[in-house]
Amino acid sequence: MLGESCQTKTMNNVIPITIKTEGLTKEFDGLVAVDHVTLSVREGEVFGFLGPNGAGKTTLVKMLCTILNPTSGSAKVCGYDIVRERDKVRECTGIVFQDRAIDTFLTGKENLDFHARMYHLDRRTREKRIAEVLALLDLKGKENMRISECSGGTQRRFEVARGFLTHPKVLFLDEPTLGLDVQARRDLWDYIRLLNEKEGITIILTTHYMEEADYLCHRVAIIDHGRIVAMDTPEKLKQAVGLNLISLQVAQESNARLADSLKQFDWITKIEARDGSLELSIDGGEERIPELIDFADSRGFVISSIKLYKPSLEDTFLHYYTGRTIREEEGNLKEFWKAWMRRSGGKR
Ligand SMILES: Nc1ncnc2c1ncn2[C@@H]1O[C@H](COP(=O)(O)OP(=O)(O)OP(=O)(O)O)[C@@H](O)[C@H]1O
Ligand SMILES: [Mg+2]
Repeated sequence: MLGESCQTKTMNNVIPITIKTEGLTKEFDGLVAVDHVTLSVREGEVFGFLGPNGAGKTTLVKMLCTILNPTSGSAKVCGYDIVRERDKVRECTGIVFQDRAIDTFLTGKENLDFHARMYHLDRRTREKRIAEVLALLDLKGKENMRISECSGGTQRRFEVARGFLTHPKVLFLDEPTLGLDVQARRDLWDYIRLLNEKEGITIILTTHYMEEADYLCHRVAIIDHGRIVAMDTPEKLKQAVGLNLISLQVAQESNARLADSLKQFDWITKIEARDGSLELSIDGGEERIPELIDFADSRGFVISSIKLYKPSLEDTFLHYYTGRTIREEEGNLKEFWKAWMRRSGGKR
């Protein structure tokens, strides 16, 4: 039985709200780490907090998990108040911390068993749940290996398995794939998706990786300096930035001349020569292609190939700031976010 339920109506059905925050704020000695965050997350959603180092993602998650008390504002998780009904909140949530928090001297199974005992599960339930999570996260056969002997990806999967062991209604994943290689990261994404789709669990994840947010999240809140600067589906966030890429190829010697003459179009916002082709950032979509071909034709350029890319979040953000990553130093980040907000029409 859940606490006081808050519901949101959609056209055909009613989806309960699992997390609701109102002006949630956390200050550390005058530093505002989380600044009046108001949001709702629906049951079964994968919701992402995306933002640079120090944005306040972990602090926000820690408040929702009752590890930290807010300075002001309020939040309910599964209908329970995060301050007044802390134990109830803990019963319905699981967390995978940003920093590794698994005993590397124990085996995966010992870690899971220890966790289950902390939750006072009886022996039969423990065995059943452990078998379930091992199967769900494809860890069968690895359960008796010492954690220190497992790969980073497998270690992280054991941590997710542990977070899910008590069948929480909400699972918090703080930077679940940080430090994993590309393959391990993609594998973990698929397990996270499976958990959400098969088990219907609501997932809150924090990430630096736009691609991760794009792949996993139904909705994303972009957070910077403790404030939500944009919140929407990845698709809408991309549309708001309004950028597509056109890659076109002409004879190598014509590249520079064509690039020069394309500068007259204000809907081409950036032109880059890359590996023998021209990459154009455009406001618009496929309707620009005939226009480009006609223009090139009229100027005597022969286009040998032309492709339109709808970029991932990663492309969208980083294409404009080539060479800069979301992890770079404060100065660049400020510019990065400011420029992004300008483009997306958001207000700070
Ligand atoms: N216990 C604390 N005491 C003082 N300041 C803190 C504490 N925890 C976090 N902060 C500060 O609050 C701000 C937000 O930190 P937080 O860890 O929430 O950011 P984050 O978005 O999770 O960053 P990262 O991407 O590096 O994990 C930072 O300026 C951080 O230094
Ligand atoms: Mg963090």
